[in-house]
Amino acid sequence: MPKIVLVGAGRIAWHLGRRLKGKGLPVAQLINRSEEKARELADTLQTSWSTNFADLLPDADWIIIAVRDDAITSVAESMSPFVGDCLVTHTSGGTAGAVLAPFIPRYGVFYPLQSFSFEHTPVWSKIPFCVDAINQEDVLFLKRIAKTIGNLVYQVTDNQRTYLHVAAVFANNFANHCFSIAEKILDEQDLPFELLHPLMEETLAKALQDSPGRMQTGPAIRGDTATIGRHLDLLMQHPDWQELYKQLSKNINGELGMP
Ligand SMILES: NC(=O)c1ccc[n+]([C@@H]2O[C@H](COP(=O)([O-])OP(=O)(O)OC[C@H]3O[C@@H](n4cnc5c(N)ncnc54)[C@H](OP(=O)(O)O)[C@@H]3O)[C@@H](O)[C@H]2O)c1
Repeated sequence: MPKIVLVGAGRIAWHLGRRLKGKGLPVAQLINRSEEKARELADTLQTSWSTNFADLLPDADWIIIAVRDDAITSVAESMSPFVGDCLVTHTSGGTAGAVLAPFIPRYGVFYPLQSFSFEHTPVWSKIPFCVDAINQEDVLFLKRIAKTIGNLVYQVTDNQRTYLHVAAVFANNFANHCFSIAEKILDEQDLPFELLHPLMEETLAKALQDSPGRMQTGPAIRGDTATIGRHLDLLMQHPDWQELYKQLSKNINGELGMP
C-alpha cells in the first residue's frame, strides 16, 4: 500500500483525503500551512500532521500538493530538500505539471475535473480524473489510484489540460454566470427563478445527448433581429449585460451585424 502524504487542508484535500481513506488508501501524513486546519483534517483522517516539511515522512511514496494554484511552486520549493525520489503531484487543472520540475525530480498531475465545495459530497464515480507524470510507471500508478477512488480516468498532457481548463470555464463558470444574470432579471420583475428550472434542465439534457452546437435555439440562431433589438432595449439599465447579450448573439450568429 502506498504511503501517501497530503499537503493542504482545503476543499480538495478534505474530500480527497476522506475518499482515499474510505477506499483503503489512508493518508499517512497531512501537512498544511496553518496549524488549526491541519489538526482538524488530520483528526478526521486519523493521521499525523505537521506544518513543517522537515517532518515529511522519509519513506513517503506519493505526495499530493492540494494547495491554492499560486502557492504550488513555493510549496514545491519548500518541500524540495525533503522529497528525495518520491512521486509528487499537484491537483490543479490550470497549472502545468512542469512547474514542479525545478524542485521535484519525479512529478505529475492528479486533477479531478469537478467543482468541489465543503458543503457537497462529490459523486466520485462521475468525476473524470486527468492524470499525467513524467515517467510511465507513475502514470500507471496514478491511473490505478484514480480507478480505485473513481471510475473515469484519462491521461492528459499539460498542454491538453490547459485547453481543458479553458473549456471547463466556459462550461461551468460562464454558463453559471448566465444563470445568475437570468435569476437577477427575473428577480427585478418579481418572478421566481424556479420558472426557468425546467428550461435549464432541458438545455443541459440536450447538450449531453448531442452536440450543443446542433442543439442551439433562440433569436440569435434564427437571425430574429427584431426580437434581439427589443431585448437589447430591455437591458438598457444594465449595459454590461446588454454588451454580453450582444457578444454572445454575435458569436452564435456572426451574420447579425450588430453594433
Ligand atoms: N475546489 C475545486 O473545485 C477544485 C477542483 C479541482 C482542482 N482543484 C485544485 O486543487 C487545489 C486546491 O484547491 P482547493 O479548492 O482545495 O483550495 P482551498 O479550499 O482554497 O484550500 C487552499 C489550501 O491551500 C493552502 N494555501 C494557500 N496559500 C498557501 C501558501 N501560500 N502556502 C501554503 N499553503 C497555502 C491553504 O492553507 P491554509 O489552510 O493554511 O489556508 C489550504 O490548505 C488547487 O490547485 C485547485 O486548482 C480545486
